[in-house]
Amino acid sequence: MKVFTKNSELTAFLDTKREAGLEIGFVPTMGALHKGHLSLMGYAQQQTDISVCSIFVNPTQFNDKADLERYPRTPEQDLAMLEAANCDVVFMPSVEEVYPEPDTRQFSFGLLDEVLEGARRPGHFNGVAQVVSRLFDRVKPHRAFFGSKDYQQVMVVKQLVQNLHLNIDVVACPILREADGLAMSSRNMLLSEEERQAATLIYDVMQVSKSMKEKKSSVLATRQAVISILSKKSIYQLDYFEICDAKTLKAIHSWEESKHVVGLIACYVGKIRLIDNLVY
Ligand code: PAJ
Repeated sequence: MKVFTKNSELTAFLDTKREAGLEIGFVPTMGALHKGHLSLMGYAQQQTDISVCSIFVNPTQFNDKADLERYPRTPEQDLAMLEAANCDVVFMPSVEEVYPEPDTRQFSFGLLDEVLEGARRPGHFNGVAQVVSRLFDRVKPHRAFFGSKDYQQVMVVKQLVQNLHLNIDVVACPILREADGLAMSSRNMLLSEEERQAATLIYDVMQVSKSMKEKKSSVLATRQAVISILSKKSIYQLDYFEICDAKTLKAIHSWEESKHVVGLIACYVGKIRLIDNLVY
């Protein structure tokens, strides 16, 4: 496994592989790796010849400084996990290497970044777009693999690739969950034992919402049921639960409005904000 910290060394190495006709698969991450990240590496390895993983905690996508500071960082463990997973290339740049000067670009994604995470975390997706476009520029992958856990992020990245006319296939991969249903996340390691147990309710309420749709409850009643379950215990603070068109993220008011529907949730468990979603 090759580990690079400098753009020039990474691009020189990958150029030789690209010129040799090999397909490059890319998994961008912020480290604190878990099996969810490794599942993306698995897809990259199945579908391409050279697997590249980046580890970079991108400051421009954190609108909350405290969140950036407490974001978990486990570089040695990450490298050991990637080595064991047969990753070919790791890119671990410094902030100065990625942003030698501040990135002032403003991207526009319309409704996609005005709702849900976009509304709650102003500037978040702009920061994601800044870093992903810079990483894409350096890695020049044929395919890039993203988790559906961050449902809105995958949509934003697909839009980014279109807006910038990049020839990159963005692959949305399934959510990996713990045995009790909790979506794997680097943030889970910040939960206390009590919070970790409580966090399973997020997946449970998503299942409740799915079964309510199947039983033909209204969208309104379904939303209210989820809100009501979570409001019963003070450990939870629901940020949002929305039922949306899976292709546009426009909130729907009746199931018939859309052929493909997704429920999306953001909920604090204690101080830790977790997100999840379920395509019905
Ligand atoms: P990070 O949160 O580290 O996630 C890296 C990738 O792993 C994302 O595509 C995310 O959706 C995916 N992922 C996380 N948990 C997952 C799970 N349980 N199952 C499947 N995939 C999962 O997302 C980011 O980093 C950053 O915003 C980034 C794209 C790297 C830009 O900085």
